[in-house]
Amino acid sequence: MFTDDAFYKAEQEHLFRGPTWNFVALEAEVPNPGDFKSTFIGDTPVVVTRDKDQSLHVVVNRCAHRGATVCRARQGNVPHLECVYHQWAYELNGDLMGVPFRRGIKGKGGMPADFDLKQHGLVKLRVEALNGLVFATFSQEVEPLTDYLGPLITKHVERIMCRPIKILGNQRQFIHGNWKLYAENTRDPYHASLLHLFHNTFGLYRSTQTGECLMDESKRHSFLYSKAGSNDAARDSEVYQDSRSFDTSFSLQDPSLLAGRSEFPDGITLVILALYPNLILQQISNTLAVRQIVTHGPDSFELVWTQFGYADDDAEMDAIRLKQSNLIGPAGMISMEDGEAVEIVQQAVSSDRKARSYIAMGGGGADDADHLVTEGAIIGFWQNYREMVGIEERVS
Ligand code: FES
Ligand SMILES: [Fe+2]
Repeated sequence: MFTDDAFYKAEQEHLFRGPTWNFVALEAEVPNPGDFKSTFIGDTPVVVTRDKDQSLHVVVNRCAHRGATVCRARQGNVPHLECVYHQWAYELNGDLMGVPFRRGIKGKGGMPADFDLKQHGLVKLRVEALNGLVFATFSQEVEPLTDYLGPLITKHVERIMCRPIKILGNQRQFIHGNWKLYAENTRDPYHASLLHLFHNTFGLYRSTQTGECLMDESKRHSFLYSKAGSNDAARDSEVYQDSRSFDTSFSLQDPSLLAGRSEFPDGITLVILALYPNLILQQISNTLAVRQIVTHGPDSFELVWTQFGYADDDAEMDAIRLKQSNLIGPAGMISMEDGEAVEIVQQAVSSDRKARSYIAMGGGGADDADHLVTEGAIIGFWQNYREMVGIEERVS
């Protein structure tokens, strides 16, 4: 499951290139006509472009001639896409515009007379955007994006993406583990106050806080939230009395790291939305970010973090978000342990491929919980994965 190439290949075909909507960009990354961003769906390279009429396109980043990567920069602005190898040129929507030496030179060489530009464009994907998040799919059958996400997840995407955003920065994190271990991690509210000392020590997140772990109807996506300050400090010492992660004698030399503003009227201070299969959308205190999973093989993936604020944030809010950005990302005070957690699982499971994990916190079913001591959403993920990738067939 975490080490076998057969599963990895099946995931690419049946999941990432199958009936799923994959996050590819924030609209704010490609705001102007001609803007492009190259990225990946699973491990398939794709390019997101903004056309002259403002429409968005997503095409496979593979030349229709002999397969070269067409777009080699991560981001930029171009009038059209051009392959460096033999300079085949494509419109921003992927249509082939022209081929050098098409009619040969001095009557010699050139493409056959029946060569039809229309038959040789880049592979085009379906594209949909939801409040500034851009998704694409290889599937012609998958339901429209908001049906795929369901009303609960759509509502909470819209809550965070409630107005135009501005990008604050990117971080890329290479993790030597299987991407599904991160899918588990982000559907697991239970680890967050045990693994992450900073969370618990400074009260940003504790399992004693008011919070829930909910899923969409299909149980492939999950929504975890909590409200800082809803816990009872005296009771917490009892709950965590034997835990290494609870020591309130610590204090920050510079408390401005945690100084922030209450910005959502519902009082929710932490949201982790895991959108199947490749996106995590988060609000942790005043940090807002997307984390995109890009797979590299059974034992490695990349996490691309893009932190953002709202376009109408004032200068003080910009400063708050930037300072709090130290909490998240690959070296963040409350997220660096997740990469390590994935890697220590990968290292240990690699040696015995027949061993099993035990996932039962919260009752052992893919059930919603009105608390944070559950692994229900992990089971929801695996149920969907099994259906899509076909575990039984591959194990037998
Ligand atoms: S491979 Fe792209 S033009 Fe030849
Ligand atoms: Fe975590």
